[in-house]
Amino acid sequence: MKELIKKAVEAREKSYSPYSHFKVGAALKTKSGKVYTGTNVESASYGLTVCAERVAVYKAVSEGERDFEAIAVFTEAEELTPPCGACRQVLWEFSKDILIILANTKGNKEMRLTELLPFPFERRGF
Ligand code: THU
Repeated sequence: MKELIKKAVEAREKSYSPYSHFKVGAALKTKSGKVYTGTNVESASYGLTVCAERVAVYKAVSEGERDFEAIAVFTEAEELTPPCGACRQVLWEFSKDILIILANTKGNKEMRLTELLPFPFERRGF
């Protein structure tokens, strides 16, 4: 998964984060072997900011891909950066047990979405 982390590192360079100055890169691998990258895109209307992970998912889904194997998330923060709650729910929509690779300049850690989102919201009677 080194290659996927490398793509997340590269994606982070494109971050548009003039408000938080927190740059995030994501690289999402489909089960068919393709990789879609994403970076965080902020807005002067702060709540409109979109995380790197969701940008990668939306790029992939809009190209017809819905089955994901892994996503790497890279920041230069001291601590590894796990996907926010909103991104966990969006990832879960498409791949319930996706491998999540958290990486920074010091190292990386692999987790499963089922660990990060053990009790997701799901369709109930609608
Ligand atoms: N952010 C991400 O892109 N992914 C995460 O997993 C956490 C947060 C972004 C959103 C915002 O642009 C900045 O990081 C600070 O919250």
